[in-house]
Amino acid sequence: MRAPVDLAHASRLVNHGPTVLVSCAAGGVRNLMAAAWSMPVEFTPPRIAVVIDKRTLTRELILASGTLALNIATRAQADLTWTVGSVSGRDSLPTRDKFTQYGIASFAGPLLGLPLVEGCAGWMECRLLREPHAEDAYDTFFVEAVSALADSRVFSQGRWSLRPDNADLHTLHHLGAGLFGVPSSLVQGRTLPGAAD
Ligand SMILES: Cc1cc2nc3c(=O)[nH]c(=O)nc-3n(C[C@H](O)[C@H](O)[C@H](O)COP(=O)(O)O)c2cc1C
Repeated sequence: MRAPVDLAHASRLVNHGPTVLVSCAAGGVRNLMAAAWSMPVEFTPPRIAVVIDKRTLTRELILASGTLALNIATRAQADLTWTVGSVSGRDSLPTRDKFTQYGIASFAGPLLGLPLVEGCAGWMECRLLREPHAEDAYDTFFVEAVSALADSRVFSQGRWSLRPDNADLHTLHHLGAGLFGVPSSLVQGRTLPGAAD
């Protein structure tokens, strides 16, 4: 069900503030963490701000490779999301790899070959926009999406389609302490009628 997403529509994958899984690889090490804080900041090319704490292994690998992937986590992945966001790859996991440790299946990204998480609603491979002065000061990274995919059952033609029959693919929105909201009801905004002159 994976289908390419036009880069002109890639920002819509994170427009509504879903929790993402940030995946990365460098020097033969791969890793994965959860991030609730990401948002689009530029339309064309699609650029996104994502907060990656300086203490994380993820940040170290991103700085080494200059690349990362944003995987849009789904309702069915709540436990996976909480787990990879609660354990650091710096911890001495028996397998030294969160993917292996927790049986997380992955596939290679189409452009950069980054490890992408199976079962997500969408995926973006991104290049880090290097800002050395800001890297010391802030946890925020600015990245540019260079490839995008989505599960066409829930996102196609640049639009989310969140329906009862695809509820397991709905996005996760972190409320704190492992509790997530999912978009359970939708409302269509319409333009107010203008006052008569
Ligand atoms: C739901 C959730 C959301 C999170 N959001 C962020 C975030 O936006 N930015 C961040 O730096 N850490 C965030 N974290 C914490 C990291 O995922 C966590 O520190 C992780 O263990 C880092 O792993 P690493 O050291 O293997 O890179 C979040 C954790 C959870 C569970």
